[in-house]
Amino acid sequence: METFVVTGGAGFIGSAFIRYMLKKHRDRRIVCFDALTYAADMSNLSSVMRDPLFSFIKGDITAEDDVENLFAAYRPSVIVNFAAESHVDRSIESPSLFIKTNVDGTGTLLDASLRHGIRRFHQISTDEVYGDLPLDHPEMRFTELSPLRPSSPYSASKAAADLLALSYHRTYGLDVTVSRCSNNFGPCQNREKLIPKTVWNAIHDESIPVYGDGLNVRDWIHTDEHSRAIDQIIERGRSGEVYNIGGNNEINNITLVKEILSVLDKPLSLIEYVPDRKGHDRRYAVDPSKIRDELGFEAEKHSIRDTVLHYANLWKA
Ligand SMILES: NC(=O)c1ccc[n+]([C@@H]2O[C@H](COP(=O)([O-])OP(=O)(O)OC[C@H]3O[C@@H](n4cnc5c(N)ncnc54)[C@H](O)[C@@H]3O)[C@@H](O)[C@H]2O)c1
Repeated sequence: METFVVTGGAGFIGSAFIRYMLKKHRDRRIVCFDALTYAADMSNLSSVMRDPLFSFIKGDITAEDDVENLFAAYRPSVIVNFAAESHVDRSIESPSLFIKTNVDGTGTLLDASLRHGIRRFHQISTDEVYGDLPLDHPEMRFTELSPLRPSSPYSASKAAADLLALSYHRTYGLDVTVSRCSNNFGPCQNREKLIPKTVWNAIHDESIPVYGDGLNVRDWIHTDEHSRAIDQIIERGRSGEVYNIGGNNEINNITLVKEILSVLDKPLSLIEYVPDRKGHDRRYAVDPSKIRDELGFEAEKHSIRDTVLHYANLWKA
């Protein structure tokens, strides 16, 4: 039976991927390897903790000993690297941790993968590596061939990690794939992020900060769809290739916040415009044709309303 190591699996999307995989495939073991930073929450994994196909190991991707012990003990054939510092605002305050975790940590995993031999290394990346698009050209979208022009220390560190992973394919012949996905929504996201934070503040009648003019556009996809796409790339994607994953679901921040307030029946007066984030990207949008044409993947629409109600019910109880 194959063993998949999922790094960062106690976080938002990694935990969704683990839940998805254990439901979908009963022919492989899943090992979650996570340093349990502020962003992790073990309750994200409570539904799988007793699954005999699941194991949890606390460890740091930047610590060579932790990674070596992991590979020696579990002999994984697939590595799915979600582990990262992921919050753009934190990267603006302290970039060095982002470089260490996102770049050095990926390098440590790649080295161990080479030493031990694996079937596939899948690097989870982000559409933010392409930088942003202007608001007045809605027809423009990033393809996998678009130049990398990251704006924040977070996205720059992710771009560096992508390139490092792809260089291990070219230089050493390691089997590597990379996916660059748009903004995710769904359960288990840290309360610092836009959707959960807006719900939390709204149900507690606290003001909801919106950066700048609120017109920044993001493309939203549910974590279950992101997980389904990753599963298909790992199984059928071509080695050495990058795949964009998008939801075809663009919405600007202020419209999203207003929708959340409407779902929760809260007044618009809770919105408070605050000075813009430094280097704030205006619009992200990826062209998802490659994954559709090569792997037949098209994201199904999930309503953001369900996610909003999920958090509201969780926190009201
Ligand atoms: N959230 C999004 O909308 C989004 C969109 C596209 C891509 N991504 C990418 O998906 C991945 C996961 O994002 P997320 O939102 O779930 O992040 P998250 O911050 O919720 O989770 C990150 C996880 O990584 C773990 N981690 C951090 N440093 C570690 C280390 N040194 N060793 C081991 N584990 C460590 C944390 O403990 C946490 O459990 C990231 O690589 C991110 O760049 C996120």
